[in-house]
Amino acid sequence: MPNVTVIGAQWGDEGKGKIVDWLAARADVVVRFQGGHNAGHTLVVGDTTYKLSLLPSGIVTGTMSIIGNGVVLDPWALQSEIARLEGQGVSITADNFAIADNCPLILPVHRDLDVMREAAAGKGKIGTTGRGIGPAYEDKVGRRAIRVCDLAHLDEIEPMLDRLCAHHDALRAGFGEPPVDRTALKAELREIAPFVLAFAQPVWKRLRDARAEGARILFEGAQGVLLDVDHGTYPFVTSSNTVSGTVASGSGLGPNAAGFVLGIVKAYTTRVGSGPFPTELTDEIGQRLGERGHEFGTVTARKRRCGWFDAALVRQSCAISGVTGIALTKVDVLDGFETIRICTGYRLRGQEIDHLPSSAADQALLEPIYEEMEGWTGSTKGARRWADLPAQAIKYIRRIEELIETPVASVSTSPERDDTILVRNPFADR
Ligand code: IMP
Repeated sequence: MPNVTVIGAQWGDEGKGKIVDWLAARADVVVRFQGGHNAGHTLVVGDTTYKLSLLPSGIVTGTMSIIGNGVVLDPWALQSEIARLEGQGVSITADNFAIADNCPLILPVHRDLDVMREAAAGKGKIGTTGRGIGPAYEDKVGRRAIRVCDLAHLDEIEPMLDRLCAHHDALRAGFGEPPVDRTALKAELREIAPFVLAFAQPVWKRLRDARAEGARILFEGAQGVLLDVDHGTYPFVTSSNTVSGTVASGSGLGPNAAGFVLGIVKAYTTRVGSGPFPTELTDEIGQRLGERGHEFGTVTARKRRCGWFDAALVRQSCAISGVTGIALTKVDVLDGFETIRICTGYRLRGQEIDHLPSSAADQALLEPIYEEMEGWTGSTKGARRWADLPAQAIKYIRRIEELIETPVASVSTSPERDDTILVRNPFADR
């Protein structure tokens, strides 16, 4: 298994950035295969903090980085992210960065629609990142997207704009907004086209060749399994498939390309935006988790909702995504808690169940069933060996492993790259 796929096994924000950064340094190619600049990955290397939304994490270490066709690409967001990273001394050229030429674009009309819909939904809003992700995926599936390759043919783009604008103008009229300004849109596309096209290519070929040469490919997932459009807490989800299976369709490699599937799992649970969250804590314990864990969104700076670890959810995520092993993160946030609870299943309409039901109506009624464990007084912060951990912390980790029916591959004990207990190196399986 030469490749590694990293996915979030909860609602995103599990601490993927640090793990992906560690793995990227051992990979030959890093590939994003879904999502867009709704993602927020924070990498801390020495004294420098890098914040990435769209670029694969390999870019920081100079590893070949690829945006696959499964991503939705906002070219203006890409341009400013690249400018920001270049300002931090990161070099980004066609030698270390490529974009799939069949990648759909996020346009200003998508951002408009995302924001208008959320504002109109009031209390029923999804709580999106407002980046236009959902509307861009809708246009891809609706066969009216403008894609990266179309930027090379702007003189022939009128029929595509007819299809796109017929759809958006009708929607915009419903919101009392003027039709799309086609002249302005065309001018914006014309201006950004050379910048994007400099990186555009059929990346499936490049990946095929890399694979043939025995390269180690790291697939970098964004968001988390519970935000998957099929398997998540629908409709409070993102608009892409976040599960490991998307590696194949979102990059152009076959279904056996995923390799070792590493599920990133936070030692407690957080969620940004609306939707069901059975173990949410709205009391001072939730507050304490949020403060100790610095639980604010990387992209939108929104406060994350916090709660106890939900083993039933993670067990389901691991099964759905075929997780080989998990990277457990932010264990140090639980230092000093007198007692710690783990959700093992739910009570729903008087019955005990061990999984997340599909219906939103049922999800809203779930009452968590908890088991309680004694916490630990010592510190886990910065631990790099099992022997550095308090006995109760080891007991907690082992219990999680048992309940989610998936082994722990690493335990992360601070944002620093090396503060990790490595049980199994996913890349060592080749
Ligand atoms: P969208 O992806 O902007 O459409 O937002 C849909 C839902 O996914 C909202 O609840 C967002 O808060 C959530 N979401 C999107 N991207 C991320 C992420 O990278 N981390 C955590 N939540 C996310």
